[in-house]
Amino acid sequence: NKRIPVIAANWKMYKTKDEALEFIFAVNGNVPERSQVESIICAPAILLNLLVKREGEHLRIGAQNMHYADEGAFTGENSPAQVKTAGADYILIGHSERRSYFGETDKDVNLKMQAAFKYDLTPILCVGEQLADRESHQTKHVLDAQLEKAFDKIDASKAVKTIIAYEPVWAIGTGKTATPEMANDTIKEVRAKVADLYGSEIAQSVRILYGGSVKPNNIHELLKESDIDGALIGGAALESNNFLVFTDAA
Ligand code: G3H
Repeated sequence: NKRIPVIAANWKMYKTKDEALEFIFAVNGNVPERSQVESIICAPAILLNLLVKREGEHLRIGAQNMHYADEGAFTGENSPAQVKTAGADYILIGHSERRSYFGETDKDVNLKMQAAFKYDLTPILCVGEQLADRESHQTKHVLDAQLEKAFDKIDASKAVKTIIAYEPVWAIGTGKTATPEMANDTIKEVRAKVADLYGSEIAQSVRILYGGSVKPNNIHELLKESDIDGALIGGAALESNNFLVFTDAA
């Protein structure tokens, strides 16, 4: 049951139009074949179209957020259909920055999961515990609750397509990476929860990524672990050469 690895860059709110173009020209044509690695850039919505037009054969583009409603009076938001017709194939859902700075709840996350499948976008569902959760041994409890709520009303045929990104919040942008063993053990727990919800065959097929201070010098050891199927990378993936180091490592 081979799981194709995924390398996803999350640009967050970085890069102007020119910087985005420079990046895509540098990496396009240099990423591995899609049958080997899924290479994805999750870009700000306003840059999606620009990137999609130049994405080439093996690179794919994702968005970082969307509203869950089909359409409506929601000034400043982007609809699932807008994201889809801009040419994005993936959508980050429930990133910890959305949860903590923009008040996204597990309910919002679930509605966005449902909207993603309705519009044929592949969700990259982010889950992760806070430092206080880890220190009080609540990690499993917190992750189980996030997963249960995110997958509410999602049937197995859809769940299996979801990419899950496990990102311990205390490791994001802090330079503190979870050790490969710690990340792998927690990802095994995430997979066990998916097995609980959908059975072990689906759990074995779902790709689960690690995110949080992934760098060119730790990607190899992370990817060596049995259950880490790739990475969701912020800061270090803003640099095109690094992005290629990550996709080559996978
Ligand atoms: O989505 C990416 C994560 O938030 C990780 O960010 O690689 O800058 O720690 P980072």
